[in-house]
Amino acid sequence: MSRAVTNLQIDSARLWDSIHETAKFGATPKGGVRRLTLSQEDKQVRDWFRKACEDAGLEVHIDALGSMFALRKGRDMSKPPVGLGSHLDTQPTGGKFDGILGTLGALEVIRTLNDAGIETDAPLCIVNWTNEEGSRFAPAMMASAAYVGDFTVEDILSRKDASGTTVGAALDEIGYRGATAVGTQKFSGFVELHIEQGPILEAENKTIGVVDHGQGVFWYDGKITGFESHAGSTPMPLRRDALLTLSEFALTLEQIALKLGPNAVATIGEAVIANPSRNVIPGEIAFTIDCRSANADTLEALDASLRAAAGEISKKRRVEIAIDQVWRKPPTHFDPKLVDAVERAAGTLGYAHRRITSGAGHDACNLNTIMPAAMVFVPCKDGISHNELEDATQSDCAAGTNVLLHTVLSLAGV
Ligand code: GLV
Ligand code: MN
Ligand code: MN
Ligand code: MN
Repeated sequence: MSRAVTNLQIDSARLWDSIHETAKFGATPKGGVRRLTLSQEDKQVRDWFRKACEDAGLEVHIDALGSMFALRKGRDMSKPPVGLGSHLDTQPTGGKFDGILGTLGALEVIRTLNDAGIETDAPLCIVNWTNEEGSRFAPAMMASAAYVGDFTVEDILSRKDASGTTVGAALDEIGYRGATAVGTQKFSGFVELHIEQGPILEAENKTIGVVDHGQGVFWYDGKITGFESHAGSTPMPLRRDALLTLSEFALTLEQIALKLGPNAVATIGEAVIANPSRNVIPGEIAFTIDCRSANADTLEALDASLRAAAGEISKKRRVEIAIDQVWRKPPTHFDPKLVDAVERAAGTLGYAHRRITSGAGHDACNLNTIMPAAMVFVPCKDGISHNELEDATQSDCAAGTNVLLHTVLSLAGV
């Protein structure tokens, strides 16, 4: 590698400008972003991103699930490209960094190579994966899951949001149902830059997290069926209250996770009372459960314990509790050679770094099942994410993007 390549640095101000320019698509009054997958705001950021990629000389194509691929030619076009990127969608009350840092960081890598006139041996390909977040359509990371063959494309296209709109209809509505068959854009490997979404790097004063593991995830849809009755005239012992049942179940789930911890977390993130009314005892509640652990046995223990708890509580309270597992994602062990490449890049650039397990789910976790994949983390303020207060510093974002740049160069060859 020449000295010019070894010393190459991305343009921190340009990256920062892009992050703030795109944060206007779906900007919320509290300084966050609401950009649900395949919404009009998602279309706006996708259009911006497509143009930025084309302006950088990339050839953009889109697959049948709306994932966007932006290709930069290499010297040897017989080689599969090195993939880099993340996602552009956000949570309903998300921040400016979750997802888009990895996508704009990838764009910044290309812009930097263009400015320096550097051609890589293998081509490079930026990806924006459709629906990483999973808050409008389940499961999370659905497009990369279909890409690796965990779900069929037809299955994913027929998934519905809360209003009954399918993924297929939502893609057509924003004009992002592409012609590329899912899974046909091949890669030699994939590197994803992301904020940590947890407190470890900041607490330890580390600039870079070299991600070697990712937590497994189990998702469930739950339904409690009790009995609606009068809030004034029904004596307490005679009630079959769905909300009290969920309350007891939620507190029991907390105890289960604590007992299996520290390597186990469980969350009830959605709960909807049917026909809510101030003076009606809740008779039906639909809810979700999200369980995670980096350890496969712990996840199975969580599963068994929560089902046993549901059985006991339903008997005691004379209600039905239905628990349906809708998604199983085993823990990820990222590719050791790619993890080493990230670590080497962080070390060569002189950044304080440590190995870390991802608490969040990422498209790179799916991709790792069929190709070498790895991730670069940077700290976020107070470890806060999936919140409008999510924040990260310009210099940490630039450091992560420099690590992405040099990891990708080492994989593609210069
Ligand atoms: C989505 O961001 C997830 O990690 O579940
Ligand atoms: Mn993300
Ligand atoms: Mn997220
Ligand atoms: Mn995620």
